[in-house]
Amino acid sequence: MKGIVLAGGTGSRLFPLTKITNKHLLPIYDRPMIYYPIQTLVDAGIQDIMIVTGGRNSGDFLRLLANGKQFGLKHINYTYQEGEGGIADALALAEHFADGHKICVVLGDNIIEGSIWDAAERFRRQSHGAHILLKEVPDAERFGVAEVAGESIVGIEEKPRRPKSNYAVTGIYMYDATVFDKIKTLVPSNRGELEITDVNNAYIREGAMTFSFLDGWWTDAGTFDSLLRAANLVAQSRAREIPEAVAEGAARV
Ligand code: DAU
Repeated sequence: MKGIVLAGGTGSRLFPLTKITNKHLLPIYDRPMIYYPIQTLVDAGIQDIMIVTGGRNSGDFLRLLANGKQFGLKHINYTYQEGEGGIADALALAEHFADGHKICVVLGDNIIEGSIWDAAERFRRQSHGAHILLKEVPDAERFGVAEVAGESIVGIEEKPRRPKSNYAVTGIYMYDATVFDKIKTLVPSNRGELEITDVNNAYIREGAMTFSFLDGWWTDAGTFDSLLRAANLVAQSRAREIPEAVAEGAARV
């Protein structure tokens, strides 16, 4: 399975922080935001990764990440999204890279505590279709929201005023190669974007969507509040990791 990090868009909700740099280069505690989705893919055993960037600062991604040595990678692929046509528009640019393989897509502003290893393993065994990760949240109206009935998802609504559940669709999506044909049938939404929720609903209509729940905390970082929340969550996790690492070291001595 190949990995794709979507880091285009203008980050207008974070203006003026994003006036002179790309949102995904802003710091989340001790690392640039883009490090986290890349690490999510690497931790799931995915080594072949493409980053979709955009805007005026796309060259900075290359300077920051180069060939991904800091993640143990030999090479990173890059492509450029003109404008901000939406998440599905950005994903469409990765068709030649995917080259018929299954893909795992992570939004560049989605940060998780745990690992998606199990979900990725499950999707590697899934013959076709898609797999998404859900998370129960108190503010579902900010996200794509899944209506779940037993073992299946009935439908997803993008930022509904009255959410039918508390299950947010996180920005981690696993797709088979038919995703690119589905994107070609989309029309722009009211906000003028090709919506990833429309792609997911196409899989749901085919009966080809599976889901699991994400372990640990999850946050986006696209607003002032969520950017701060992300930094605080990472800082708390790091503070927990250090005593654990010291204890492990002591145990080895
Ligand atoms: O965070 C999860 C949510 O992400 C999902 O629950 C929603 O269903 C999904 O639509 C998305 O919602 P947002 O409105 O928060 O997405 P946003 O426009 O903030 O874009 C998220 C990331 O996607 C952004 O960090 C970079 C990438 N992106 C976005 C756009 C609009 C692109 O690469 N190109 C784009 O044109």
